[in-house]
Amino acid sequence: MYKELNPPVRILMGPGPSDAHPKTLQAQALPLIGHMDPAFVQVMNEVADLLREVFGTKNKLTLPMSGTGSAGMETLMVNLIEPGDKALICINGLFGQRMADSAGRSGAEVTVVEAPWGEAIDPAQVAEAAAKDKFKLIGIVHAETSTGVKQPLEEISKIAEDNGALFVVDCVTSIGGVPIQADQVGIDAAFAGTQKCLSAPPGLAPATFNERAVDVIMNRKTKIQSWYLDLQMIAKYWGGTKRAYHHTAPISSIFALHAALGVIHQEGLENVFARHARLGKALQDGLEAMGMELLVRNPDHRLPDLTTVRIPEGIDDLAVRSRLLKDYSIEIGGGLGVLGGKIWRIGLMGHSCRERNVVLVLGALETILSDLGYKFDKGAGLAAAQKVLAQE
Ligand SMILES: Cc1ncc(COP(=O)(O)O)c(C=O)c1O
Repeated sequence: MYKELNPPVRILMGPGPSDAHPKTLQAQALPLIGHMDPAFVQVMNEVADLLREVFGTKNKLTLPMSGTGSAGMETLMVNLIEPGDKALICINGLFGQRMADSAGRSGAEVTVVEAPWGEAIDPAQVAEAAAKDKFKLIGIVHAETSTGVKQPLEEISKIAEDNGALFVVDCVTSIGGVPIQADQVGIDAAFAGTQKCLSAPPGLAPATFNERAVDVIMNRKTKIQSWYLDLQMIAKYWGGTKRAYHHTAPISSIFALHAALGVIHQEGLENVFARHARLGKALQDGLEAMGMELLVRNPDHRLPDLTTVRIPEGIDDLAVRSRLLKDYSIEIGGGLGVLGGKIWRIGLMGHSCRERNVVLVLGALETILSDLGYKFDKGAGLAAAQKVLAQE
């Protein structure tokens, strides 16, 4: 039987989507205009400028691709790779695996460099692999959402440059949460998503390409195998002097992204990063004070916006997550792949990254874990978090 939509109001503290900022939801409800309307062209230009700010780039070709983060990944791969090209992909989690899959489907011969899930990729291994062949690109995930690892990029970027390979980065969980600095780091092409630290609904994949990458795309010998993601055509809609229709832009989603990026711009990027760093530390200190072990051992490689914590011995993953949802309306994530049933993934992303949520999730976990018989120093989690929160 037909019923009007009435979704529950949740506090989204998983690996994404995060809570959308109210301004993004309001923007999404604005009246439609046409995708060729001069007023919309103005919105597109502003979105591109604001995206340059969060990517840390001056790249002309910066745009939101239609589709979720995975469409961004595929955009980079199908546009940069021609059949028979060689790609070196770094894998330390599920999204690195997806990138290798996507590169292979785009026609690349894929070589992988791996690290255990929960650790960063070792640049020495990348250098060794890169020296053995002529790679068109080296691909890596900046913020591995399946493990909570923040990957240092500088050394690997240098290796790519020294070997004449494009440096291609997945920034889905880093954009708006930790600095990317694409130009400074030497990233040739990057993609992201809207539903994490940007606090907009899912559905767009911001992407950016420097001149080196654009050169590769515009001077291919073979046709780009995807019509929908073909940047030779889409660039004419997003950047041409005369805008050429390619596909109908998802206008309301672009309104929402405009509002989301505006909120970040107003707070100031440095303040946004500082908020994520401070609250992420408060949560992580809180969990450790409860006797739990963080998956990522090296504190320098921990993402502030996505914390991964091992589920204590004898505690049932689903029992805890169901109670969080039922009693507190809080969503957190479980583990993926080899980490299924072993970790929780707790997000503090964008609009979800608030003091209120740190206190709430720690308090809720203390109550639930205590009920389930987990032995720990009660109140210690909140106290450790409050210590960090008390520092300005
Ligand atoms: C690091 C990373 N890459 C790619 C993706 C794919 O994005 P989407 O699910 O929006 O297609 C995700 C989604 O969680 C992600 O976290």
